[in-house]
Amino acid sequence: MRDSGVIGIYDSGLGGLTVLSAIHQVLPNESTVYLGDTARVPYGNRKPETITKYALANVRALLAYAPLKLLVLACNTITAVALKTLQDELKIPVIGVIEPGAQMATAAGDKIAVLATRATVQSRAYQEALTKCGHEGFVHMQACPLFVPLVEEGMVDGPIAREVADFYFRQLPKDLDTIVLGCTHYPLLLPLLQSMMPEDVKWVHSGEAVANKVKGIIGNGNEAAPLRKYLVTEAPDRYRQMFEFFLGKPVLKEQVELIDVRGI
Ligand code: DGL
Repeated sequence: MRDSGVIGIYDSGLGGLTVLSAIHQVLPNESTVYLGDTARVPYGNRKPETITKYALANVRALLAYAPLKLLVLACNTITAVALKTLQDELKIPVIGVIEPGAQMATAAGDKIAVLATRATVQSRAYQEALTKCGHEGFVHMQACPLFVPLVEEGMVDGPIAREVADFYFRQLPKDLDTIVLGCTHYPLLLPLLQSMMPEDVKWVHSGEAVANKVKGIIGNGNEAAPLRKYLVTEAPDRYRQMFEFFLGKPVLKEQVELIDVRGI
């Protein structure tokens, strides 16, 4: 493992790939280790105490696996519930996805809907972050708990995904100008979601902003052969195929490892 430290990226499952892709684009010469807690996904309907317990155990396992120089919580739910705890626990920079998303949303529009997991909605983290960024307009929070299982199954288009999206969209207020994808799984549904809303609606997700924030902290990497590892807590073979599908590039068997997360 690289002595100089690698970037750790952690999500409950596949959603963090939307952030990982942006990091690979912005920082192609940095090594990355991705951890998806595939044994326990989804997190979004769980209690904050449970999510924090999972997050601490997973992050400790990730730190034992690789010397991290920075950790990205590529999950709004973990960010909403456990960012502060993890920042206090770790000696390296820990970056969440909500503040960059709120900044982008504030710049994009006035009448905003945030689509997110139940735990993120209940945490009120988006409302607080939007207020902190100076947003004074309307905010509607919409929990979309069926989106994550759809993405985890790779069902990102077709009639079932469309029906589910329609069910949630019918609950949205009229005349929105901006929709925030407040869960890192949701950008994988973006082509479908976009096709179902007026063309002038602006869509926000924070992957690229997060990647740029990482670059601002650690600078440009210069590794000629950067490491790309994918850790999962269950079902490595199935997830290797999903990683390939969503990243749009080959992921070799030896790049995917099962990690033993103790303490939960
Ligand atoms: N991808 C995660 C997020 O951004 C949550 C998915 C889950 O419910 O586990 O909120």
